[in-house]
Amino acid sequence: MSSLEKVVGVDGDRRDTLSKVTGRERFSGDYKVPGALALAIARSTEAHALIKNIDSSKAQALPWVVRVFTARDVPGENSYGIIPITKDQPMLAEGKVRFKGEAVALVAAETLEAAREAAALIRVDYEPLKASFTPEEALADGADKIHEKGNLCFEHDSLMGDPDKAFAEAAVVVEDTYTTSSIEHSYMEPESGFAVMEDDIVAVTVSTQNPHYDHADLCRLLGLENDKVRVKQATTGGGFGGKLDLSVHSYVALATLLTGRPSRLTYTREESFAASAKRHSFTMKYRTAADAEGNLLAVDAELIADTGAYASYGVAVAMRAAVHAAGPYMVPNSRVYSRAVYTNHVFSGAMRGFGVPQVALAHESQMEKIAAKLGIDPIELRLKNALKPGDKTITGQVLGDSVGIRECLEKIKAVRDGWGAAADDPDCFRGIGVGAMLYGIGNTGVSNPSTAQIRVNEAGGVTLYTGCADIGQGSDHALLAICAETLGLSREDIALVRADTKLTTNAGATSASRQTYISGNAVKDASEKFMAKAIEETAKITGKDIADLCFTGTGVKGAEREVTLTEIAESLKEQGNELIGEGYFDPETVPLDHHTGQGKPYSTYGFAAQLTRVHVDKATAEVKVEKLFAVHDIGKAIYPQGVIGQISGGSAMGVGLALMEEFDHASDKNFDTYLIPTVLDVPDVEASFIEHAEPTGPYGAKGVGEPALIPTAPAIVNAISDAVGVRITSLPANLERVHRALQLMGGK
Ligand code: MOS
Repeated sequence: MSSLEKVVGVDGDRRDTLSKVTGRERFSGDYKVPGALALAIARSTEAHALIKNIDSSKAQALPWVVRVFTARDVPGENSYGIIPITKDQPMLAEGKVRFKGEAVALVAAETLEAAREAAALIRVDYEPLKASFTPEEALADGADKIHEKGNLCFEHDSLMGDPDKAFAEAAVVVEDTYTTSSIEHSYMEPESGFAVMEDDIVAVTVSTQNPHYDHADLCRLLGLENDKVRVKQATTGGGFGGKLDLSVHSYVALATLLTGRPSRLTYTREESFAASAKRHSFTMKYRTAADAEGNLLAVDAELIADTGAYASYGVAVAMRAAVHAAGPYMVPNSRVYSRAVYTNHVFSGAMRGFGVPQVALAHESQMEKIAAKLGIDPIELRLKNALKPGDKTITGQVLGDSVGIRECLEKIKAVRDGWGAAADDPDCFRGIGVGAMLYGIGNTGVSNPSTAQIRVNEAGGVTLYTGCADIGQGSDHALLAICAETLGLSREDIALVRADTKLTTNAGATSASRQTYISGNAVKDASEKFMAKAIEETAKITGKDIADLCFTGTGVKGAEREVTLTEIAESLKEQGNELIGEGYFDPETVPLDHHTGQGKPYSTYGFAAQLTRVHVDKATAEVKVEKLFAVHDIGKAIYPQGVIGQISGGSAMGVGLALMEEFDHASDKNFDTYLIPTVLDVPDVEASFIEHAEPTGPYGAKGVGEPALIPTAPAIVNAISDAVGVRITSLPANLERVHRALQLMGGK
């Protein structure tokens, strides 16, 4: 059973592979839930209005309708949201609506048809308010207040050194304004979940990134004690940040609590579009200064994000964007002002990168402009300024040892030189572009611990308990590798219980590229403590010295025979104790100063650079990404195929961000008009990684989930600019914008 082979760094077979490729895996919508009520939601037709009256009499009178719920039925606090300071979102609108598509009433019925028919019969009298659809409108005098506190959701300042002096003394200053679009997460599985009563406990099974956060918010909403709610993560078909927010959970939990019957709800794709978080669109005004040799002197950035009707993760996005505003470069002077502004759009929230893909467009475009002005090779310019161990970031954080950006840049330089010139064809222009990034692993400047346990199971083996939600990316496989490696076992030897608030403890969200690093450390800690406890108890049982005992994976060996884990566990049990390893890890951070933005937001960073070659069709303005080479410093690949998968998938998402994705709040209802890349739009990504081991990481690991996407769009936009000689400053670089660029260049 025990294996001497090392597990970390070895791919192995994922437990979910066969069930997923054969369609046998159960997502929450696949469960049979006998006797479940079907739910449907009546949604606001107004973007901003007072609710004068809700008449549900016709709905209530329909056959098969069991009950209609409104805000008045919410037993606890009708406000949720991820971040404690911005729990501003009602599960059912109370007094007013703030976006079109907001939930106003909930219908529970015996059939889905009846529930939907009834929801359509609910009449709401609205008194319209002035709606704001851009941050500028929302902040203008005379704008109607979306929330009591006004329309500025959050602001964050950051100041380092003396940027004014640096700009005055600079040899070159470049400036521009960049914009990015609102984006839909486009997970394959829409929001889905069901609830049942388990005795007097409301048990919710749901597609989610963070069962323990869901649990805390459901307790608040329902006014229930912690032990009266259970959240189990169902197999989840993608999240990308959009399943951090509460959605169907609150409705199934409410309906089941108040009717005593099971209930279920799966959003239609239209509902998912209308009522789930979007990526924040940003407007970014940048000025960047350098000396004559190309050394960066200062960055001055003003960032404005449309956070929509509710804060969701807006605070985290605005803050993280500010922290990353200068990119992976040493910049001694900086001023960043970042704002998240309420509008009457559906709320924006977390999406793969939390504002960093947005600022990466800006800082990487600025680097190109400086390189062009000074006549320096763009990769050389980046290498000259790339952060090194011991350098300071713009929050004044002194970086540790794991800073692999220079090596990433050197690799792409060699690859670019190998590609040779990007020659034009008679019918297309070609160009090559580069994008680079850094990304802080974990939540920004706040404690964000993870916990895990190892216990002996009935078969005498070990079980890993983790609250971590695997959302398809393979964190289970990575955590099992870390556990197995530490215990000297193989992955197959370890049973896994995960992401169930009744059985596991909080691992924090599967978000911020944090689980391999943070939960990985908690699992390693749990494994080490488990072994230590087993050895200690064996010493007592056998009278041997601890130094003479060793852990075998199935027990502890002394001089004569192996004492099994079951024996050790029983011995401890007789003393009222338990054979358990309880692991904990909280990355070391220092909160950002409120006025200067200085602090240590993350204990480690991932780094990456990507290189693309594009062609731009002279007649149609279509951009085709011909090649994409990506290299990421991930510390250590716990599960190399998973890393490559993340980089490939992230880059594909980056192609969408770069070339086509733009959520039109007024008209996009489904994938017929909202376009995402298909396999025909994405090149074969040449994904690679380097391993600058992070001393505080489990076996040196950092994270890759979000970094995978961040450099792609800047690399593509820079390649388009290289091809046509005109810079596109607004994403996506769609046909209209590229066509306009072709007109501006007047033919090359
Ligand atoms: Mo992601 S935006 O950290 O779920």
